[in-house]
Amino acid sequence: MKIFIDSASLDEIEEAYACGLIDGVTTNPSLIKKAVDKRKAEGEDIDMTGYIKKILAIAQGTPVSLEVTGITYENMITEAKILYDMFNPVAHNVAIKIPINPTLENTSKEGYDGVKAIRSLSQKGIPVNCTLIFTPEQALMAAKAGATYVSPFAGRIDDYIRKLNKISFKKTDYYPECGTNKDGAILHDNGIVSGIDLVRKIKDIFTIYNIDTEVLAASIRNARQVREAALAGADIATLPYDVISDLLYHFKTMEGIKGFVQDTIPEYRDIMKGR
Ligand code: E4P
Repeated sequence: MKIFIDSASLDEIEEAYACGLIDGVTTNPSLIKKAVDKRKAEGEDIDMTGYIKKILAIAQGTPVSLEVTGITYENMITEAKILYDMFNPVAHNVAIKIPINPTLENTSKEGYDGVKAIRSLSQKGIPVNCTLIFTPEQALMAAKAGATYVSPFAGRIDDYIRKLNKISFKKTDYYPECGTNKDGAILHDNGIVSGIDLVRKIKDIFTIYNIDTEVLAASIRNARQVREAALAGADIATLPYDVISDLLYHFKTMEGIKGFVQDTIPEYRDIMKGR
C-alpha cells in the first residue's frame, strides 16, 4: 500500500519525505489554511504560489493533490486548468481534487457537476482525485467518470456514526472496521458500518469490475486504522504527519531498546567504534 502525507505543511512534508517512504501528498483548502495560518502567526509573509511550488518540488516523482474550491462545473474546470497550468510544469506531479458532488444544499440531489468535471479533466489527461467520497456508489460514479483516485473519508464516517449515536470520542480514537453494536444492532450509515468498511466495499467493487481507479483511504485518524485500510486492500492511505510517526511506535520496542543499550558491554561497543 502506498503512503501519502495528508498535509499542506512544508515542514511536515519535507520531514516525512526525508524518510524516503512517502509516495505522494494530499492537500485540501482546510489543510492549506492550517499550514498558512501557522506561518502567518509566526510572522511570515506567505507567497502562496511559491509555497505550493516548494511542496511540488519536494514531492517530485510522486503526485500532489491540489483541490478546486468552485462548486459549479464551469468554475471547477476554470480553477483546475489554472492550478494545472501554473503548477504542473514545476515537477509534473499535480493531481486535481474534485468533490464528487459539490452541492451546498442538503435537500438537493442534483449534482452532476462533479462527475462532469472529472470526466472532462480526465479526458484531457489531467489526473483527478475525486474527494469527499462517503458511499461506494459515489466511488463507482467517480471511477466511471475517469478519476485516477477516489478518496473515501474513512475517519469522517466513523465520526458521523458516533455523533449520530451520541457516542463521545476524541478525533484520534480507534473505531473498529466491524462497527459498534448498540442495543443489539450494529450502528451504520446506510449500510456502511465504519470508514474502513467503506474502503473495503469500494475496493471489492473495483476488483469485481477490474476498475483501475486507485482507492485512496483518506481522513485516517490512527495507526490501527492504517492497518485495517491495508487489509481492506486500499491502494493508498493518506496520513497526517503524526499518524505516519505512529506507524513506527510500540512501547515494547522502546523498552527493548533501553535494555539493549543498558546491556551493551564495552568490548562489544568498542567493535562498533572501530577500536
Ligand atoms: C484527504 O484527501 C482529505 O482531505 C483528508 O484526509 C480529510 O481528513 P479529515 O477528515 O481529518 O479532515
